[in-house]
Amino acid sequence: KAIYLKDYEAPKFTVLHTALTFLIEEEATEVHSLLSIQGEAAGELKLNGQALELVSVELDGGALSEGSDFSVDDDFLVIHQIPAHCKVAIKTRIKPQENTALEGLYKSAGMYCTQCEAEGFRRITYFLDRPDVMSIYDVTIIADKSKYPVLLSNGNLVESKELEGGKHLAHWHDPHKKPCYLFALVAGDLRHIEDRFTTMSGTDVTLRIYVEPQNIDKCDFAMDALKRSMKWDEERYGREYDLDIFNIVAVDDFNMGAMENKSLNIFNSSCVLANSATATDNAYSRIEAIVAHEYFHNWSGNRVTCRDWFQLSLKEGFTVFRDSQFSSDMSSPVVKRIDDVNLLRTAQFAEDAGPMAHPIRPASFIEISNFYTLTIYEKGAEVVRMIHNLLGEDKFREGSDLYFQRHDGQAVTTEEFVKAMEDASGIDLTQFRNWYHQAGTPELSVTDQFDETTGDYKLFIKQTCRPTPESDKKEPFHIPMALGLLDEEGNDAQITLKSDGKFNQKTQVLSITEPEQEFIFSGFSAKPTPSLLRDFSAPVKLHYPYTREQLLFLLAHDSDGFNRWDAGQTLATDIVLELSEQVQAGEPLEVDDRLIETFEKLLKEDSSDKAMLCKMLSLPSLAFLIEQSVPANVHAIYTARTFVRQTLANQLHEAFLSCYQQNHDDEPYNYSAEGTGKRSLKSLCLHYLLESDQGDYSQLAISQYQNSDNLTDQHAALSALANSRFQVQAKACLDEFYEKWQHEPLVVNLWLSMLAGSDRIDGVEGVEELIAHPAFDIKNPNKVRSVIGVFAGQNLRHFHTQTGAGYEWLADKIILLDRLNPQIAARLVGPLTKWQRIVGEGGQKMRNTLARIESTENLSKDVYEVVSKSLVES
Ligand code: ARG
Ligand code: ZN
Repeated sequence: KAIYLKDYEAPKFTVLHTALTFLIEEEATEVHSLLSIQGEAAGELKLNGQALELVSVELDGGALSEGSDFSVDDDFLVIHQIPAHCKVAIKTRIKPQENTALEGLYKSAGMYCTQCEAEGFRRITYFLDRPDVMSIYDVTIIADKSKYPVLLSNGNLVESKELEGGKHLAHWHDPHKKPCYLFALVAGDLRHIEDRFTTMSGTDVTLRIYVEPQNIDKCDFAMDALKRSMKWDEERYGREYDLDIFNIVAVDDFNMGAMENKSLNIFNSSCVLANSATATDNAYSRIEAIVAHEYFHNWSGNRVTCRDWFQLSLKEGFTVFRDSQFSSDMSSPVVKRIDDVNLLRTAQFAEDAGPMAHPIRPASFIEISNFYTLTIYEKGAEVVRMIHNLLGEDKFREGSDLYFQRHDGQAVTTEEFVKAMEDASGIDLTQFRNWYHQAGTPELSVTDQFDETTGDYKLFIKQTCRPTPESDKKEPFHIPMALGLLDEEGNDAQITLKSDGKFNQKTQVLSITEPEQEFIFSGFSAKPTPSLLRDFSAPVKLHYPYTREQLLFLLAHDSDGFNRWDAGQTLATDIVLELSEQVQAGEPLEVDDRLIETFEKLLKEDSSDKAMLCKMLSLPSLAFLIEQSVPANVHAIYTARTFVRQTLANQLHEAFLSCYQQNHDDEPYNYSAEGTGKRSLKSLCLHYLLESDQGDYSQLAISQYQNSDNLTDQHAALSALANSRFQVQAKACLDEFYEKWQHEPLVVNLWLSMLAGSDRIDGVEGVEELIAHPAFDIKNPNKVRSVIGVFAGQNLRHFHTQTGAGYEWLADKIILLDRLNPQIAARLVGPLTKWQRIVGEGGQKMRNTLARIESTENLSKDVYEVVSKSLVES
């Protein structure tokens, strides 16, 4: 069932030109395709197809018959013999209105749309559905004009006309050859906004965003983000847009965030639509990042594409890296880095330590949809980032220029990417390639020694990597470790290698390449404090026996913003995990005064960087803490963390209040880095205040909810209430909020996720109430994520309730969803796959639940792969 990278073979035939005609009718859609096929020699043609009704097949104008000329089964149409050059015409019939998998052509809120990546095109017509078959497309769409006035596909509109019977036709031609996963079609009753962009060489591009009529007032921000992305890609990467038109379409039912179809990006509406009343700051920044991400794919993905799906990180890792650079340029680089690293360390490290661990270039898979993972995307981006660190900005740019120039129009592998970087820079990346085929998170254990007589400071670094499913033995990784050494005053000392006087830097990137390595630095009068892995220069776990005093020192003085934050996180983690031991031992709890003092100092500091201050004052999440403590006792950690929060809230409520007040103003909302920072800090203070029992701050939250002009502040107030002891007030506000916004799906999703994620939810019964609520719809992935995803993935206290009811509940939902949408069902298995990380009976219960899912009949490949792999003990 699994397919392997090592079995890759170049295609025997390719499709030079693909002409498609879609006859859209309410009962069914007919798809006529005419393929101009070319191969080296005559032979058998094996086309992929799924859930298709075959109407007819012709070869060079002559009808073929089933049995003698071709055979067809659930996965393939095989034409027994075709000449080296020929035309194959195929007619199929599909039912988009019944397609709940949301792959191929489907209907969402009355409009037709497509999602073909990775293997959805085979649900539209029989085709060589693989990315190394690239074709020029002509697409004709015929549909009822009043119901579907807008007809879109890739490339340029070459003809549009009225037909008899109230129908109309549109013919689109895409001059760029592309793999079929980039094909797109949209037919619906849509409005659009329009803008223009002039590229660096002077081409005038029309930009449009299409939405359902009621959303036309929520497109401006995405348009602005698009223009900024286009400009940024020109300036930073020299990449120019290559057609006269660029379209974005928003749809409500979408499995992922968005899709980079050539010149016709299709987006989950949650990743496009925004105005101050219906989107939070978080939503704005997500929209900005995803608009950029999909736009950047035009080069890193479309012009240069993947040879096969094992190479997925070629386009995703690189594009995530590019969008993170963009977001970083648009706001605060340190805060962006903190957010990225938090996600990586909390979720990707867990994936890399679990049964589904895979290298960023996997060697095998059963269902490719399961490999759109944090590893492929986020770790993939970290690997590109390390290349950037090793080469430096200029050489990296030369490498990327060479890569795009050398491979424009080709379908290539990650090897070609690394090779281009190597060729342009002259830097040897041989050992670095281990990052591509070895899974697992490397660990660096660092110890040090100071010799007072010589002034030498010695760092001893050991690297290891635990076994993962693809291999037990790991070759050492090439790890760039950025290092600073702080003197007694907290200033960065010059870093000079003793052996040859090399470096003389304040931050030095050490290349860790051996299992064990030693570095000696000279010229110290006292033992320095090491600031290790600055800016998180490599995706590794770092161990150094920091004392709490040293962490406080780094927190106060480190010139590296990321490490200053990280010192605080390490300190807080140490404190919470120690307390969680005491919880289990039944000992009395007390929070280390030094943490409280630090928070107090931070709160009173007049910091100009509010976003950064908010990060500094945020405790590590429960999910992160669980990752740091394997096997984890979720309830002990939860209790310890809550105790720390409450202690801070009780002892510092006055400081939180004055910080809240200082950052609370009546200026009208506008999305900006500064405003976002202020609001995030204010919201953090409010959350602490509502946890304090030194006063009743519920009125503060209620008034923020009632008086603010934007969803960010309203959401902050509501979620603080929802998680607080003020449940009566919370309910009144939440009910009113729903009443007011029930016709705005995205706001309703936020409402659902607040309830599903609330600490105060009535466990499984509470979340089941949400499922029964009219606002919920199991066929809509956003709603599923807001309720089921949030409860199982974020409300860890309740999901891990000791009875195991959370697990059983999730399993029931997975089994139900698997019939409708296997991709989404498979994603929901994620929380259960971590069973080996949960201590004792809880872990066993999770495992039993997985076994029950596995024994269900007719499981999809998607769910089967995740469940069966997760049951293997490691
Ligand atoms: N290429 C898209 C993106 O990263 C994601 C498509 C995901 N498709 C899927 N079937 N999982 O922007
Ligand atoms: Zn992508």
